[in-house]
Amino acid sequence: MSDFNLPDYKQQSPEVRDRFERLKQRPVTMEVKGLTKTFNSHHGEVTALKNIDLKIHKREFVCVIGPSGCGKSTLIRILAGLEQASAGQVLLDGEAVTRPGPERGMVFQGYTLFPWLTVKRNIMFGLIESGMNKNHAEAEAREWIELIGLGKFENSYPHQLSGGMKQRVAIARALANRPKILLMDEPFGALDAQTRAKMQAYLMEIWKNIDVTVFFITHDLDEAVYLADRILVLKANPGEVQELIEVPVPQPRNPEQFLSPEFLATKKHIEELIHPPSEESDDDHLNLVRMVPVNDDVGSVF
Ligand SMILES: Nc1ncnc2c1ncn2[C@@H]1O[C@H](COP(=O)(O)OP(=O)(O)OP(=O)(O)O)[C@@H](O)[C@H]1O
Ligand SMILES: [Mg+2]
Repeated sequence: MSDFNLPDYKQQSPEVRDRFERLKQRPVTMEVKGLTKTFNSHHGEVTALKNIDLKIHKREFVCVIGPSGCGKSTLIRILAGLEQASAGQVLLDGEAVTRPGPERGMVFQGYTLFPWLTVKRNIMFGLIESGMNKNHAEAEAREWIELIGLGKFENSYPHQLSGGMKQRVAIARALANRPKILLMDEPFGALDAQTRAKMQAYLMEIWKNIDVTVFFITHDLDEAVYLADRILVLKANPGEVQELIEVPVPQPRNPEQFLSPEFLATKKHIEELIHPPSEESDDDHLNLVRMVPVNDDVGSVF
């Protein structure tokens, strides 16, 4: 990306600065304190996460970005209570997280709907599990299905839906339990670019209208800058906080902002953090032997 007089990504307009001031005054929904996670693998001990500290405020949208293997999924699994930390703590509204619970909704990249249940039954499942009677659960599920615009598909099975529709159901299923926080691990990673853009807009609409805090992992810089209030940038080996960025792009967001100077400046900064020019490793080069004549060069101008 060329830097044609991009502003400093830390420069915030008065409205954005004011928004962050107000955001910091909101209650802390989730707090991560000194979180470390080590795994024992056959190569010995691997430190996946080291000393992570983070406070996520109520109704905040936090994105996480970082190179592959830096511990993003491990982090979200610990926040979900699916994995135990080796040291440190995760608190949800001040209470220690030790196991999965309905106040934390999860959406993964892979389609995780029950294939043998209809859309409606998939959404009803968690509600019935948490003790709601069947009629009430069915009424709630119908409301969610309407909200995600899939009224015609309530009796369809997951294999009859497109990828985007499946993820809409997965989001509705997670939200139906009224979680305090929605934990999303690359939820749109398997979707084509157009569907992905629609899903981003759709998630923003949900977030604006529903009282929920979002923690969202992505590999896609545009997606992170477009969605997030703040972006947690992690670095690898061990997974540590590299920077916590306050995105200077005003809310509410719209696709026109993708080309705004503050959007591009933030994206450029993250790109430099993740791929510093001096740190090109040997792994980045292909070890190819030339198998065409020297003058047969597709890279040159004929
Ligand atoms: N159950 C496990 N046992 C041993 N090592 C593990 C286990 N789970 C994760 N790891 C290691 O922890 C590190 C972080 O993995 P993790 O899946 O959290 O990374 P990630 O940032 O989500 O990667 P990606 O971007 O590719 O999804 C990796 O080195 C991985 O090999
Ligand atoms: Mg991952």
